[in-house]
Amino acid sequence: MNVLILGSGGREHAFAWKIAQSKQLQNLYIAPGNAGTANCGTNVNISINDFEAIKNLVWEKDIDMVLVGPEDPLVKGIHDYFLQDEVLKDIPVIGPKKDGAQLEGSKDFSKQFMQKYRVPTAKYATFTKNEIESGYEFLQDLNPPYVLKADGLAAGKGVLILNNLEEAKNELKNMLVDAKFGEAGAKVVIEEFLHGIELSVFVLTDGKSYKILPAAKDYKRIGEGDTGLNTGGMGAVSPVPFADEAFIKKVEERVIKPTIEGLNKEGIDYRGFIFIGLMNCNGNPQVIEYNCRMGDPETEVVIPRIESDLLDLLQGVATQTLHMKTYSAIKEIAATVVLVSGGYPGEYEKGKEVTQLHEPKDSLVFHSGTKSDEDKVLTNGGRVFAITSFGNSIEEAVNKSFASADKIKYDGKYYRKDIGRDLMNL
Ligand code: AMP
Ligand code: GLY
Repeated sequence: MNVLILGSGGREHAFAWKIAQSKQLQNLYIAPGNAGTANCGTNVNISINDFEAIKNLVWEKDIDMVLVGPEDPLVKGIHDYFLQDEVLKDIPVIGPKKDGAQLEGSKDFSKQFMQKYRVPTAKYATFTKNEIESGYEFLQDLNPPYVLKADGLAAGKGVLILNNLEEAKNELKNMLVDAKFGEAGAKVVIEEFLHGIELSVFVLTDGKSYKILPAAKDYKRIGEGDTGLNTGGMGAVSPVPFADEAFIKKVEERVIKPTIEGLNKEGIDYRGFIFIGLMNCNGNPQVIEYNCRMGDPETEVVIPRIESDLLDLLQGVATQTLHMKTYSAIKEIAATVVLVSGGYPGEYEKGKEVTQLHEPKDSLVFHSGTKSDEDKVLTNGGRVFAITSFGNSIEEAVNKSFASADKIKYDGKYYRKDIGRDLMNL
């Protein structure tokens, strides 16, 4: 098979690394990819949102399957674009159509969906500009902290958590009236704050059956002890100690089954990954959000723990034969530590030369934001590498990643040295 992966981060490198091991693979292309994916296949420098260029590439390279990494092309309808095109319509796209991608693309849609299909989630209401007074009243009846969410995609910045009622009202006005998040904030979901520990559960589905992939916990803040600004993710651990068999069973019965059934009842043919962001509230899962894709950096711990041939599983998704595919995950613990550029998530410089890249021998070095320049590798993003290691304990796995992180050199390198620490004594 010839496969095209869309995206350029650590998630796509982990996908490329895994798919390159499949016996079913002939040629692998990554668009646009990075310096790491270039070691697994051929990078093609086109944008993930340039559907016409993607069409030409698929035609030219005789691509048999397209795996979409990020949410943006899915929410914009790349899968629908393929289905509506005479040339492309029989080429499977892994990732939902526009209707299914609404699970991530609209917070209001996903909350309505959860309510309709009785998926446990925080109490909420949605408001538009004309309903701002009702929004203020709704806030008054909630206990702090207050959670405000822009309905649409806002590059991961659309969720505000505020401790003070006046501040919350002010931000509601900023979003609805002053268009703080542009069109994405034309509707705002206000919801109850959930207390607990967060984790993510990943599901691969062909619309009928599903496989529950390993769960993971990520670390979103830039600073140690979960302080400072939010980032795309500074590290991840899989499995999550408190997400034992009994907890995952609850997630399956209360969240996964009603979600798949709900999609069917809505007439949504969903083929791809569902990322379920959960809060463990005293042993009971509550859904914080759905995403229509895998997480980054969670993929860099989830995918290495999958023993089965990923391409074979994706074939199962494409042909709705996932129930016939074998799936297993390894028991060992995987941890990933993300190396970022100095200044991230604020302003940072790109183009720093990376040296000693091949020094780490005990870890998988996934590239998140790099590019090749002749025989050099240069930094090319806020997140630069995700370094994944295995161990029999979280401590062993993260320590291997820290040792590898120390070996790689570039100007301004920073990483959190407390990844996994909160999970070590649970
Ligand atoms: P989201 O974009 O919906 O994932 O929200 C971003 C982050 O905000 C989540 O990962 C949580 O840490 C936090 N968050 C969102 N909704 C809630 C909630 N209802 N209660 C507590 N924390 C929340
Ligand atoms: N790591 C969180 C995300 O991918 O959205």
